[in-house]
Amino acid sequence: MDTIYINGGRPLRGTLAVQGSKNAALPLLAAAAAVPGKTVLLHCPPIRDVAVTRALLHGLGVPSRQSGDRLELDASDVGTAPDAALAGQLRSSVLLLGALLSRHGHAEIPLPGGCVLGARPLDLHLSGLEALGVRVLCEDGVLHCQGRPTGGTVHLPYPSVGATENLMLAALGASGPVCICGAAKEPEIRDLAVFLNACGANITGAGSDCVRMTPAPLHGASHRVLPDRIEAATWLCAAAATGGCLTLTELRPAHLRPVLELLSRAGCEITQTETTLTLRAGALTAPGTVVTGPYPAFPTDAQAPMMAALLLAEGITQFEETVFENRFRHVCALRALGASIDCTGRIASVRGVKALHGAAMSATDLRGAAAMVCAALSAQGESRITQAWHLDRGYGDLIRRLRTLGANVWIEPKQSSRRTTWNRTESGPTNGEPPP
Ligand code: EPZ
Repeated sequence: MDTIYINGGRPLRGTLAVQGSKNAALPLLAAAAAVPGKTVLLHCPPIRDVAVTRALLHGLGVPSRQSGDRLELDASDVGTAPDAALAGQLRSSVLLLGALLSRHGHAEIPLPGGCVLGARPLDLHLSGLEALGVRVLCEDGVLHCQGRPTGGTVHLPYPSVGATENLMLAALGASGPVCICGAAKEPEIRDLAVFLNACGANITGAGSDCVRMTPAPLHGASHRVLPDRIEAATWLCAAAATGGCLTLTELRPAHLRPVLELLSRAGCEITQTETTLTLRAGALTAPGTVVTGPYPAFPTDAQAPMMAALLLAEGITQFEETVFENRFRHVCALRALGASIDCTGRIASVRGVKALHGAAMSATDLRGAAAMVCAALSAQGESRITQAWHLDRGYGDLIRRLRTLGANVWIEPKQSSRRTTWNRTESGPTNGEPPP
């Protein structure tokens, strides 16, 4: 998807099933490479980052196939050096470091890519591995890691999601018990542990700040991927932005508590069961300050969509982004729609306006692109978002799903001069470029 066109001003109404979580599926795919044998992932989202990861695994000798949201792969054998061009397309390729290290005792991992949200260093990953006796050398853009991890305790000074996941995967091949103190507590960490324990691992404490693992023989398993709490938040923000009424199914509202509290304070009526949720949007008022942080705080990935939802809310909403140093890149585009946003460092203040108008925007990252979609849906008139391939990375079947909710959207493939609908049958590209 290269360019998306949106004719806004219509309330979103209807029911959607939430897809499997991108940020659970990607570490699960790396984990499957750490486990000799066949793995089946159910509810695995058909998104571009999954397609890229599948291509990475294929290059390592791990064949896979995906039919809808069922993905099967066979990691009986796996190499040690992933393709650099593919690895450079997403952040989660770095998780192959722990996975391959646990399998082989060495790995050569190209530096990862992913959304540009700041420096995104790897110091916590690497110092954690070194604390487990792994020798790490970064040379010519490749991380050369040598040595099977020993047992021991790793202290994370910040609850990095990726570092926690990487250390869990490396610990699968450790020579003794491993304890990760200061671990991230995101639901995706617990989902990873549920899968690995189904594979025979012995993990306790996942979802708390202390994860304990003892070595155990591993085998393939079947696992249903956790619902995507950020995709769910995005849809709820789109419904709130457009004054709509949306029911989401197959989700875990408990994983979205800070988002739901904020939308409720802003004037939305929310009813929920354990796996479904209905939001009825009203006239929105500024709900107070939004401070992002590690789980269970307000999720940084929902910051941009929430900002889009509150552009018409009466009053001033202050956003404080504490996780990434450069995660307001969507603000310029939202201003083009007529939004009133002041930015200073990690603080953005949004003053609600009476109306937004269509504009031309260019996506810069996945969640910023989602914010542009939410805002364009609430604007009067036609908007255009170029570089829309960012959306393919994390939102499967987006155009069709938006249309089922009554949105007037279409896309403009790169080579066509006419507006056509785009049938999302093929998986996303795997060469880093947007689809043709
Ligand atoms: C994961 O990224 C998610 N990605 C991100 O979602 C999410 O925003 C982030 O966690 C925080 O929740 C996936 O799960 C694939 P971190 P990750 O390590 O693991 C700093 C999306 O839109 N840090 O918890 O990279 C880092 O720079 C994506 O779906 C270090 O300083 O996040 C950042 O400021 C975007 N050194 C903070 O910690 C390190 O070694 C949080 O990073 C590692 C991280």
